[in-house]
Amino acid sequence: MTLQDEYKKISGLYRETVNEADSLKEVEKERVKYIGRSGAVNEIFKKLGTLSPQERPAWGKKLNILKSDITKCIEEKKSQFNKKDKAEDIFDPTLPGNFSTLPSVHPVTRILREIKHIFSSLGFGIAYGPEIETAYHNFTALNIPKDHAARDMHDTFYLDKEKNLLRTHTSPVQVRVMENNDPPYNIIAPGKCYRRDTIDASHSPVFHQVEGLMVGEDISFSDLKGVLAEFAELFFEGTSVKTRFRPSYFPFTEPSAEMDISCRICGGKGCSSCSQKGWLEVLGAGMVDPEVFKHCDVDSNRWQGFAFGMGVERLAMLKYGINDMRFFYLNDMRFLEQF
Ligand code: PHE
Repeated sequence: MTLQDEYKKISGLYRETVNEADSLKEVEKERVKYIGRSGAVNEIFKKLGTLSPQERPAWGKKLNILKSDITKCIEEKKSQFNKKDKAEDIFDPTLPGNFSTLPSVHPVTRILREIKHIFSSLGFGIAYGPEIETAYHNFTALNIPKDHAARDMHDTFYLDKEKNLLRTHTSPVQVRVMENNDPPYNIIAPGKCYRRDTIDASHSPVFHQVEGLMVGEDISFSDLKGVLAEFAELFFEGTSVKTRFRPSYFPFTEPSAEMDISCRICGGKGCSSCSQKGWLEVLGAGMVDPEVFKHCDVDSNRWQGFAFGMGVERLAMLKYGINDMRFFYLNDMRFLEQF
């Protein structure tokens, strides 16, 4: 083979065979084969003498470049193995592992789970309803007729002209449960709600509520008080929380009430967290209004019961001592990692 042919062959071949080597030993074999003392490149060098004196310098240069290219290629290949070998060499099974931070549960999810757990233990089932609601389920069936002032209080996101909307509370799930099932009812309905509120320390356009509905033949206001006081006791475990009920107004309950718990920061004496009142509002409730039963085809002469609705973010803030609702939605890991 002429020098030129051999040059062509080797320069077209070395990269492939070097890269096929799968151990340091094999790479070394390749090195000897190409650039060892009696390797292929040196064999070509020997043939320089067959060329004319004018051709020799140019080919000498070419061969030197080929040699340094092959050297580079071999060094690169070697370094790949060296890295691997090093990692293997220093593997010490007695060293402690690398612990990545364990995933944690979002505080809102956590509180939702606790609420579901508590009401399950009190015998409640769980119902879900759509977040896109009809104005009928969100308002009309709940005794909030069109043009009623209470609709304005809800600052609704409408999806089309006053027909479909993003539910402003979980109360429409009461309606759906009663429409689709015969009494008695004993459910909670957790989920997202939407209102056109500006974001601040205690408002967010998306928030969570847990609705409750208990209807039977002899469910009374004292059941409402008993169940909700028991809930507060279990939820704020071990902190001997006191509850009180204040009269209130909701179009879908009569009578209506709001439940307060004693402020856990000052123990009821009054501080800045509770605006010096010693009490904090946690939920709205009341006896289901006969108008609502009527819309759902439930005989209000036979069936009666109570409903309640609680804000999940608010309960989470009270339980964990968080003073700004925005923390729940910022996805700041320093906040989330604490749960
Ligand atoms: N739906 C009411 C609200 O969002 C809460 C509520 C639910 C009050 C059930 C009474 C009964 O404020």
